[in-house]
Amino acid sequence: MKKLHLREFESPKEFHEAVDVAKAAWRFSDRLLSPASDMIAATHAGGLTAGAFEEGRLLGYVHGIPRTNMGVPCQHSHLLAVLPETQGRGLGILLKQFQRTWCLEHGIQLVTWTYDPFLLKNANLNIKRLRAVAVRILPNFYGPMGGIYHDVPSDRFEVLWRLDDPIVERAAQAKDPERQEEELVTLPIATLGRLPNVTRVRLPFPGGAPEIYRTDAEGTIKARKRFAAIATKLFEAGFEVTGVGELKTGPAYVLDKR
Ligand SMILES: CC(C)(COP(=O)(O)OP(=O)(O)OC[C@H]1O[C@@H](n2cnc3c(N)ncnc32)[C@H](O)[C@@H]1OP(=O)(O)O)[C@@H](O)C(=O)NCCC(=O)NCCS
Repeated sequence: MKKLHLREFESPKEFHEAVDVAKAAWRFSDRLLSPASDMIAATHAGGLTAGAFEEGRLLGYVHGIPRTNMGVPCQHSHLLAVLPETQGRGLGILLKQFQRTWCLEHGIQLVTWTYDPFLLKNANLNIKRLRAVAVRILPNFYGPMGGIYHDVPSDRFEVLWRLDDPIVERAAQAKDPERQEEELVTLPIATLGRLPNVTRVRLPFPGGAPEIYRTDAEGTIKARKRFAAIATKLFEAGFEVTGVGELKTGPAYVLDKR
């Protein structure tokens, strides 16, 4: 069994290897890849770049930059990528837990990042496994991106990862994520209409992403608009995304009123 090492980057060569990992993970054109020089400078300025290495080969990495507009010490986690052929092995979780430990050691209790709310794999990782919470939606945050996103607008959920939150601490120790599906089917569905007077709702989203971005771009763009309108109303009403699950009808988020 090959030994896996998780550690901070030690040479410019590793930052250049990370660009290749990003290219394989997101299939972006070069113009959209974060250059090694930017990551080197951001890390020099107090950020974090750490990787999962197997016999010296970089399999995945996490890159976070110092964030100054949250009123508390904060790191914005800009990049997390694992080589496609090594995905599903738990490296994503290990890299995020490395980031959590590193931040806590550096006096940082808050990490933020953005992710595509229609990607169920990322929703499972961020919301179900890491217990981050989504607090707002950023329509077309990066503009058109191509790659796995094709031509659909780059809507993003912004999440907060409160590192000293007992729920996050428990999840960091937990082997298996808490199951949420049972309750999901009982929750009222949030719609464009009047918000139900409840403190917990569910918000469905289309399954099959990112494949549907290529096979049904028109339908996806319509679904994005509707989803963003409902999500914005819920966030403005004080709801946060605290859970995700799958029903026969497709995946859905759970939102709790703060
Ligand atoms: C997202 C990404 C970093 C995850 O890394 P990974 O090593 O494959 O993830 P892990 O094996 O650690 O899985 C972590 C969790 O993600 C979820 N997950 C992973 N693969 C999944 C899949 N195929 N379907 C559904 N959920 C999945 C699960 O919740 C899993 O936890 P579990 O196995 O305990 O249930 C990786 O898939 C990737 O590089 N994707 C492209 C780049 C990207 O989207 N980055 C943004 C991340 S926000």
